[in-house]
Amino acid sequence: MNSIETVMALARPWECPPLRNVPILGEQYTSREFFDREWSSMWTQVWLLMGRSSEIRESGSYQVEEVGPESFIMIRQNDSSIRAFYNVCQHRGSRLIFNKEGVTDKIVCPYHGWEWASDGSLEYVQDPEDFLEGNPCDDLTLVEVNCEVFAGFIWINMNPECMTLQEYLGPVWEEFEAYESDDWIRGPSSTVDVNCNWKVPQDNSCESYHLPAVHPQGLKWIEHSYKYCHFDWCEEGHNRMSIPMVTPSRSLTGEELEVDEQLGEMLEPWGLKIEEFKGREFETRQKVQSVKRELGSEYGYQFDQLFDDQLTDAYHYNIFPNVTISFAGSEYIGLQRMRPHRRDPERHYYDNFMYLSQGAAARLDATEPEERRFFKYGTELMNRQIADQDLAISTGQQLGLASRGYQGVRLAGQEGRVQRFHDVLDEYLDGSRS
Ligand code: FES
Ligand SMILES: [Fe+2]
Repeated sequence: MNSIETVMALARPWECPPLRNVPILGEQYTSREFFDREWSSMWTQVWLLMGRSSEIRESGSYQVEEVGPESFIMIRQNDSSIRAFYNVCQHRGSRLIFNKEGVTDKIVCPYHGWEWASDGSLEYVQDPEDFLEGNPCDDLTLVEVNCEVFAGFIWINMNPECMTLQEYLGPVWEEFEAYESDDWIRGPSSTVDVNCNWKVPQDNSCESYHLPAVHPQGLKWIEHSYKYCHFDWCEEGHNRMSIPMVTPSRSLTGEELEVDEQLGEMLEPWGLKIEEFKGREFETRQKVQSVKRELGSEYGYQFDQLFDDQLTDAYHYNIFPNVTISFAGSEYIGLQRMRPHRRDPERHYYDNFMYLSQGAAARLDATEPEERRFFKYGTELMNRQIADQDLAISTGQQLGLASRGYQGVRLAGQEGRVQRFHDVLDEYLDGSRS
């Protein structure tokens, strides 16, 4: 049996640049002036995960997504590529599309009926002879933004001079590729309109210090102690954390230490039973790894490129600025994305999406993407226990961040990724990173 250090060892640590420890103050979550600086100096410069390629397969199918004051149309072309455009008519500025997805052979402006093709060219205007500067179809197009597809997601960048997405993602690129997640299918997905700044839940996803207090139910199947987790950040501005899963926490002892039903549900698809691990509770993780390695391809999984720890553990990435992606034991992606409101710093749209791997989709008989739900926080639940617990904390934290009595953060070492996130944001705001 390997020592615990070997079992939990991360094969590929990242070089972590030193922290700059910029102050993290309440006003950064409430001030309109700070919010506006974030927009002009950061949001308009970075790659943003916006859509899902496999959900717009046919020519003319599109998705629309908002971020801050902008809206983007991502549309499949006749040559099967995807292009992205600002969702705005070049006649007098009307928004063009108001639904979130669909299929069309032309984009018709609701105001004066101009017709735009999927490649952004203008095909029809009413009364073309009446335009003194000439027929608008001869020279106007929709305004395009940079667009790339990676890991099955559609990414856009508003900066015409931006680096490539691969350069932007740095070491994340290769690690995401190994999961071969292009065709993973959308599971339960919600978008929640929440009264807190977009950074509040992103901070939350940059630390696991809150697990024992906020997600106590996880103690029996995910490691809660930071001593057995790995935290990294990279020069490009992204963070990573790996947490052992499919194991009771090492902090459990005596009668608390057991393979409970929830952990049993992770064993069962691999033909393993709770009773086998009586007195050997900490062996579940390694056993599942070895059985997955043996039977994975037979069950429809692809993990030839994955290390053993990736077969069970949560590999959790904070992609700067606003996305958190967790590969949970090669079973599914849990994705959280925080999109700022168009003008209110104390409000944002929280997306909580799941994508099932081919193996998990086959096991659950999932063939079509699940419908995405939209609602205001407090009116419904996402029915994703961990995400619902996190949002409940975030809304309460926003109230405290707005208090004159809050004097700024005091971070534990294991919350270093929170600091790194704010350090990188500060570099965009002061112009030293672009
Ligand atoms: S604003 Fe679009 S056709 Fe007039
Ligand atoms: Fe959480």
